[in-house]
Amino acid sequence: MTMEKILLSVLYLSGWNIIPSCLLHQYHFVVDPMNWTEAQSYCRDTYTDLATIENTEEMNQLINTVSSAGHRSEVWIGLYSKIDWRWSDSYRGSGAQYKNWDNYNDNEPDFGSANQFCVCFGGDGGWWDDQCSIEYPFICYRGTQLDPEFVFVNKKMNWSNAQRHCRETFTDLVTVRNNTENQKIQSLLPFSSGNWVWIGFFRDPNMYWSDGSRSSFRYWRGGVNSIASMSVVCGAATLQSSGQWRFLPCGTKLPFVCYSAPPAPLMRQVVKLKIEDSSVDLNDPAVKADILKKFQDKLKEKRVNGVTLKWREQPDGKVFHKEKQRKKTEL
Ligand SMILES: *[C@@H]1O[C@H](CO)[C@@H](O)[C@H](O)[C@H]1NC(C)=O
Ligand SMILES: *[C@@H]1O[C@H](CO)[C@@H](O)[C@H](O)[C@H]1NC(C)=O
Ligand SMILES: *[C@@H]1O[C@H](CO)[C@@H](O)[C@H](O)[C@H]1NC(C)=O
Repeated sequence: MTMEKILLSVLYLSGWNIIPSCLLHQYHFVVDPMNWTEAQSYCRDTYTDLATIENTEEMNQLINTVSSAGHRSEVWIGLYSKIDWRWSDSYRGSGAQYKNWDNYNDNEPDFGSANQFCVCFGGDGGWWDDQCSIEYPFICYRGTQLDPEFVFVNKKMNWSNAQRHCRETFTDLVTVRNNTENQKIQSLLPFSSGNWVWIGFFRDPNMYWSDGSRSSFRYWRGGVNSIASMSVVCGAATLQSSGQWRFLPCGTKLPFVCYSAPPAPLMRQVVKLKIEDSSVDLNDPAVKADILKKFQDKLKEKRVNGVTLKWREQPDGKVFHKEKQRKKTEL
């Protein structure tokens, strides 16, 4: 029997899910204002990392931690977003850095509701970031990157469908490299303002937690997250608005919230393992060590930190006992 099979039969045993997810993060409020990077270092030195938040329960816990310290404003949490604009056709040559953000309210790109990763082109020639799921007509080009012919497609599609249509029918969604090209596109539009078309500009929609967690829980405040020419924006929970999140320039100095794994005594737990159909000698130290390592890896995969696993020896010094045709142990 292979080690994998042993592991599988073990994992079916009850008592394995010993760590309820609500205990994963214990929050600590730090009142000294720091910029996001300084706060991150402080949390990593003193606790585990800046706060990761995985669900509503944890969000409420974080709010309680901050408000019971008598604080009611904005605090850094561990979330951030990279601002790396790219062109659909991967153009990086001369003019790839050209941008013509719309100057309406001087807010574009405004990363509205932290949900705008694609770029549309208004009737006045200005660019806006917008939700990629919105359906707009769009501009493709045919020919080569350096000698493009622009094509207005009067069908409404979301950004990725527009991209696919351009690639299937022409070359790609349009790349815009200077004012001349911008004006050329503007002249193709059958409207002057109040309408938009997709162009090939977009950015990575991923958001990141400081500790590398993949938690997809979000709690955004509506409205504007001005990103101007920043390369990264950092997440803050706004206690004045029920703790809802928004992005701010990472250099802003704010109090912040760290997390730590819960203290060890909470985690001490005995788990009984019953292994069926095993043909290997479970009391062989190498086999025991191997099983333990597989469990440790499993915990790591589940991002459970600070847990130590040990075999518990029974009074006769053995860990596993045969039970009729079965073997049994305590961990
Ligand atoms: C665009 O629409 C298609 C379905 O037509 C959908 O599968 C896809 O997720 C949408 N893309 C975005 C970015 O909303
Ligand atoms: C704009 O970009 C196109 C494509 O690179 C180039 O052919 C054209 O000369 C540029 N025009 C100006 C005014 O820079
Ligand atoms: C945060 O502060 C440190 C130390 O003062 C500084 O080196 C760093 O550039 C600041 N980070 C930002 C994003 O402003």
